[in-house]
Amino acid sequence: MDTSQTTDSVKNVDKQEAFASPGVSTLSGSQTSFSVAPMMEITDRYCRSFHRVLSRNALLYSEMITAAAVVHGDRKYLLDYDSAELPVVLQLGGSDAGLMAESAAIGEQFGYSQVNINCGCPSDRVKSGRFGACLMAEPALVAESFIAMSAAVKIPVTVKCRIGIDRDDSFEPFERFIRIVADAGCDTFIVHARKAWLDGLSPKENRTIPPLKYEYVDQIKSLYPHIQFILNGGLSTHEQAIANSRSIDGVMLGREVCSNPWMLNEVDHLYYGAQQNNRTRFDVVEACYPYIETHLMQDVPLGKIMKPMLGLFHAQPGGRLWRRILSETMWVKGAGLHTVQRALDAVRQTAEDMQRISR
Ligand SMILES: Cc1cc2nc3c(=O)[nH]c(=O)nc-3n(C[C@H](O)[C@H](O)[C@H](O)COP(=O)(O)O)c2cc1C
Repeated sequence: MDTSQTTDSVKNVDKQEAFASPGVSTLSGSQTSFSVAPMMEITDRYCRSFHRVLSRNALLYSEMITAAAVVHGDRKYLLDYDSAELPVVLQLGGSDAGLMAESAAIGEQFGYSQVNINCGCPSDRVKSGRFGACLMAEPALVAESFIAMSAAVKIPVTVKCRIGIDRDDSFEPFERFIRIVADAGCDTFIVHARKAWLDGLSPKENRTIPPLKYEYVDQIKSLYPHIQFILNGGLSTHEQAIANSRSIDGVMLGREVCSNPWMLNEVDHLYYGAQQNNRTRFDVVEACYPYIETHLMQDVPLGKIMKPMLGLFHAQPGGRLWRRILSETMWVKGAGLHTVQRALDAVRQTAEDMQRISR
């Protein structure tokens, strides 16, 4: 990727323009933005490129990358992407204000549209490194990072958090966290609306067991109406997302987009006022062919490119076949565009057969 071009283009816009364009929700009539959640080992550059084909406007996030890795590690490997993916938010993990500022500046140089501080990840590794969800107990430390990062970059700096940690179910610690970080200047919070229990649940359990409390996000928005709050956690359809976003500024979906990426095809229409498109899943796969070929030529394994597409035919005739053929063949030596075409032909054939039977 030619980062110089994207870097320049971002440098020339102010913070407001670096946001994805504000969304207009067709279902609710109110402004609601749509983001795809950051997910480790999922939302890599190949996943984001595919998601961008499905939606021009959805705000996409990187996986969490630690500030130390960005500063001391292989930057090109960690941060490189295709400029067609933009706007993309770089999510950073860390609590050392100096490292957070330096990594944010590096992210800006690479052309990322925003940087985001992870205050929601509950894994032990993250906890021992003093970042992620345990930072909900240290809002002053987050504020310090926020101030240092904001001083180091022109792009927006945002925070993704939970509604709290551990077993105290009260609203007050959440409100205190938001107040202190907002006082430092943060004007956008993405809230995974459940607590993280740091005393024994695995990260996976921490995404299902602590109960969802969307009402906490409504309540915080009513206290801080000038701050943007993006609702995240357990949203599984556009109808549900939009119905729950009436009082707030946007929604973020993660796992549902992984299992059913086709839902992104409606995002530009439902949230951003674009014309409804009439393309098919087949059109989308074929539109990805040039991208697939380019990256195969750069020795990227087909499996890496196609993994995000496994759910594309979710709940469709031939959907299981698509997943099975690709899973069995995409990692095999010599797999290439012909592998994808073969899987697509099999789905097409199944769909035609089923149509014939149902007539
Ligand atoms: C496999 C996986 C990896 C995740 N990695 C991250 C991460 O790197 N950073 C982060 O802030 N959240 C991460 N999350 C949490 C999601 O961003 C999101 O907050 C959570 O899944 C709830 O949203 P959902 O119910 O729409 O999936 C991850 C979730 C999953 C399922």
